[in-house]
Amino acid sequence: MPQNTQIVLDNRPVGEATVANFKLVTTDTPALAEGQVLVRHHYLSLDPYMRGRMNDSKSYAAAQPLGEVMIGGTVGEVAESRHPKFNVGDKVVGMGGWQTYSVVDANVPGMLRRVDTTHVPLSHYLGAVGMPGVTAWYGLVKIINPKAGETVVISAATGAVGSAFGALAKARGCRVVGIAGGPDKCKYAVEELGFDACVDYKEHADYISLSKALKVACPNGIDGYFENVGGMVLDAVLLRTNAFARIAVCGMIAGYNGAPLPMANPALILVNRLKVEGFIVSEHMEVWPEALAELGTLVGTGKLRPRESVAQGLENAPEAFMGLLKGKNFGKQLVKLV
Ligand SMILES: NC(=O)c1ccc[n+]([C@@H]2O[C@H](COP(=O)([O-])OP(=O)(O)OC[C@H]3O[C@@H](n4cnc5c(N)ncnc54)[C@H](OP(=O)(O)O)[C@@H]3O)[C@@H](O)[C@H]2O)c1
Repeated sequence: MPQNTQIVLDNRPVGEATVANFKLVTTDTPALAEGQVLVRHHYLSLDPYMRGRMNDSKSYAAAQPLGEVMIGGTVGEVAESRHPKFNVGDKVVGMGGWQTYSVVDANVPGMLRRVDTTHVPLSHYLGAVGMPGVTAWYGLVKIINPKAGETVVISAATGAVGSAFGALAKARGCRVVGIAGGPDKCKYAVEELGFDACVDYKEHADYISLSKALKVACPNGIDGYFENVGGMVLDAVLLRTNAFARIAVCGMIAGYNGAPLPMANPALILVNRLKVEGFIVSEHMEVWPEALAELGTLVGTGKLRPRESVAQGLENAPEAFMGLLKGKNFGKQLVKLV
């Protein structure tokens, strides 16, 4: 059996996460038992939720235990199999973690899914045609539920979730406006992802100024907002919401290092009769098949061409993860492992 390289959580962050919170270790891969499959990981997905797991605080999910391999989505190929439904060479997606190999009990439902790479590149099963894509789909379809012609807005617009949201919302006839950090990301959102407009929040010192820019980008107001960031961005959007607008609260990355994110004017929820709903995509497994089918078609037909930021080698995963939390990624953040 091959040697496995792993990254474990060594200690918990105090304030900002750092690369010193992680440790690289090498272990022997155990021999397979009946029903198990050895997967060689090609890509590891880095996702903002991992920052929350590093803390030992109350959350919707258990904390990442110290000394254990960091949690994470992976795609790869079956290197050895003692399960009748998986053959060597099959391309699979699972939650293999921050390591080069994983041993998976393939009898447990949902642990390993075979994927078809004929029309969709393997790595996209960690992004547009994976968990982030389904996240965009759920917030748009089940919470915002837009009518054609309505204006919908998303923050972190060029990321894994944001880019999928853009394509899904355009397919429903919406005016789609992004909020992103920097001129390059905004240009890309409009020219490559098909957003109708994109506002660079870094050009604005406060939420009043950002809100004025949103007024120009959203002349008919905002009917739906997909929240990924929180803080000043949320305050600015709230000022532009129409009556009965819907807000899907997906993430608050501006506060993931533990800083509180106060709201400037929560009375707008009442004044504009807003629906504000938080959600966790893994609690809605019933929508995954429908969402993945639509996302797969969008990618397969070239209507969604997601961008990826790819770090090389497991040893560079911590640094790439720090970058994701600071907006250094441009598109879905991955780590290439082979
Ligand atoms: N609820 C769920 O089930 C669920 C599932 C998946 C993801 N999420 C959430 O969805 C959001 C997007 O995830 P993703 O995977 O698509 O990540 P992503 O957008 O690919 O990457 C994160 C982006 O967030 C922005 N960002 C980072 N730090 C920021 C800060 N301090 N202030 C403002 N923006 C900041 C950066 O974009 P800019 O450079 O444009 O600022 C960065 O590129 C995250 O909040 C994540 O936690 C939630």
